[in-house]
Amino acid sequence: MHTLESDRQLQDSPRTSATPQARPAFGTVLADQMAVANFRDGRWSADEIHPTGPIEIHPAAHVLHYASTCFEGFKAYRWADGSVRVFRMDKHIERLRQSARLLVLPEPDAAQLAKMILAVIDRVRAQVPEPPGALYMRPLLYGTMPNIGAASAPSNEATLIVLASPVWDYFAGGVKPLRIYVEDQKHRTADHLGMVKTGGNYAAAMGPTLAARDQYKVDQVLFCPGGSVQETGAANFLLIREGHILTRSLDSTFLHGVTRDSLLTMAREMGFKVEERLFDVAEMLEWVKTGEAALSGTAAVLAGVGTLVHGGREHRVGNGEVGPVTQKLRAALVSIQTGESPDKHGWTTRV
Ligand SMILES: Cc1ncc(COP(=O)(O)O)c(C=O)c1O
Repeated sequence: MHTLESDRQLQDSPRTSATPQARPAFGTVLADQMAVANFRDGRWSADEIHPTGPIEIHPAAHVLHYASTCFEGFKAYRWADGSVRVFRMDKHIERLRQSARLLVLPEPDAAQLAKMILAVIDRVRAQVPEPPGALYMRPLLYGTMPNIGAASAPSNEATLIVLASPVWDYFAGGVKPLRIYVEDQKHRTADHLGMVKTGGNYAAAMGPTLAARDQYKVDQVLFCPGGSVQETGAANFLLIREGHILTRSLDSTFLHGVTRDSLLTMAREMGFKVEERLFDVAEMLEWVKTGEAALSGTAAVLAGVGTLVHGGREHRVGNGEVGPVTQKLRAALVSIQTGESPDKHGWTTRV
């Protein structure tokens, strides 16, 4: 119920040779405690911890009619020393606050939200899986003002919930390269909202993604409206080769991934040339003749692409397997997240 189909497709069983029945699908298991705060009369209430379970909502609530909602997704890891650390919590909090502003929802207080996140992780500490598993954190904000005439009026009431979900390693049986459909006509979502992590964007991408899966047997759709390469339904897109990364420059049309930011920072430090600029489908197809391609995101970390399907043709990416530079960058990031390499950027917060 709480899983995003697109996240699941990146993590779930079809692409692995591991026994899928042993592993619950991404997002279907929830930790048993959640944090809740409400915005009323111009201010946030004190936050409370409740057992995870159904919430009461007025049928006239703004979110149910006008989709005033946004969320976040990031992970906490159990380190070998027994501690639990959250990866880039502050950056995800800032992204939720930005999403709230752009949707004209009451903005969560950064310090209060951090406190709620850390309180939930602390309460469910025993439910954090060992690496390569993690505790996936899902803050959720939605407008609750009961007014069905507010199509062009913002919700002056809101609820903020922090959910947690233990997730396991779905790549344990070996990583299979992704098969991606290149959509060069349809938009993933409205151009001014691509950078907002809001439910409507996923609803907008759902139809085209399911249709492409059905027709071309692909894992994901890479949206390239007007031929300009953007992102997939739930991950950013990177072209990779030794010493060089090319990815779309930040604009309002796509989500500014925290994984993307972490990988680009690390790659620059490793001496890579990192190019952030617009590029089109033709340039991408030229790159993948000899280079690599990958999807980046909290769920996938960095997942290699093996095939691009475009214009009725299949284009093999490199030799069709997950590339060596993709594997190297993924391993470098995972080793910081799980405490095997030093965290020189202060990206991890101890719970
Ligand atoms: C549309 C979209 N793009 C990109 C990403 C990757 O973002 P991040 O690396 O912050 O998880 C996500 C996942 O959150 C996403 O839903």
